Amino acid sequence: IFDRVKEAPPDPILSISAAYRADPSPKKVNLGVGAYRTDDGSPYVLPIVKHFEQQFANDPSTTHEYLPQDGFTNFNYHSARLILGHDSSALKEERVVTVQALSGTGALRIGFAFIANFIGNRLVYIPNPTWSNHRNVVPQAGLPPTKNYRYFEPNTRAVDIEGLLQDLSIAIEGSIVIFHGCAHNPTGADPSKADWQRILKVVKSKKLVPFFDNAYQGFASGNLDTDAWSTRLFVESGIDMFVAQSYAKNMGMYGERVGALNVILSSSGPVTAVKSQLKQLIRAMYSNPPLHGARIAAAIMSDKESFRQWEMELEKMSARIQTMRLRLRDALNKNGAPGNWDHIVNQIGMFSFTGLTSQQVAFMRDKYHIYMTSNGRVSMAGLTESTVDYVADAIKDAVES
Ligand code: LMR
Repeated sequence: IFDRVKEAPPDPILSISAAYRADPSPKKVNLGVGAYRTDDGSPYVLPIVKHFEQQFANDPSTTHEYLPQDGFTNFNYHSARLILGHDSSALKEERVVTVQALSGTGALRIGFAFIANFIGNRLVYIPNPTWSNHRNVVPQAGLPPTKNYRYFEPNTRAVDIEGLLQDLSIAIEGSIVIFHGCAHNPTGADPSKADWQRILKVVKSKKLVPFFDNAYQGFASGNLDTDAWSTRLFVESGIDMFVAQSYAKNMGMYGERVGALNVILSSSGPVTAVKSQLKQLIRAMYSNPPLHGARIAAAIMSDKESFRQWEMELEKMSARIQTMRLRLRDALNKNGAPGNWDHIVNQIGMFSFTGLTSQQVAFMRDKYHIYMTSNGRVSMAGLTESTVDYVADAIKDAVES
């Protein structure tokens, strides 16, 4: 029965981590996967996460009972408020259904399964370029393969807003559109506030259904509210939409798979039906989500002082990334690498879309043991004071070769 199974291509992001792990060179540098590293290159457990982890471990009343299908109630409550804002009219009018999800990917997966089952066989438009997994999740959920809309202009290294608006204005009415709420992955280029207003206008006139993917809230500007601006603009306009959240990056709980899917309805009538069907879908997929990470995230978000500590840690992490942007740009200017490297400091979030070609990326991997995705995306969080000059010199060599 297995003879007709063909080998799947390696994942363009996760295969980089595997290749890095297998490389015995002491000089190796991993700039592939978007995971925060400290200045000595180590994974980082946020002190506030560790604090609650220890507290729960020592608390005799801690159990490992099942959660309901839609997850930890206190987590869902705070998660919705984190992204939509405490004053959200959608929350006040009880037009939001929030379910805990297996991080951002899981939220997308449930959302698209819900769309396939209950909204219909709609087309899904994704930005070009986008996070590679968007292209996997949509058809896996039973929808047609995704369609691209223009997003990035390589010459200006900025959002191609006119191309984007044009493509959405000829999209099939009622289609779903994925937007990155902030810190666009991989380009690090976000629409301006004025751009978002124009995008919303087209979305409304074409009755498009936005699906916001928010994997980096707090990582673009260092401020959780600022990074929720675009999502809130769309939600406050009163349309039907979906919002995915992840706590992988902003709480550093990558492996705990903590996230949420928010379905925002234009009217509260179908809320109970939507919630019941989401629970049913989850029951059939994995029954109920894991408790550990959600318990920690809920504890952080529901206590004022802990929330403040989290905000300070976010500011610290995004400041280190910002410092690395400046250090890399300056090192490239200093070593005379041909070209203008200002985009490295102008882009935001965890990544820099360097403009390096796939050949240059391969050259750096083979000669210098520096790993990044083949589209030239560099995880700035993977750079440290002790590797930044080495990486800058390797980029110079790759560009000149
Ligand atoms: C990335 O883009 O590197 C991260 O979002 C990790 C992932 O799952 O791909």
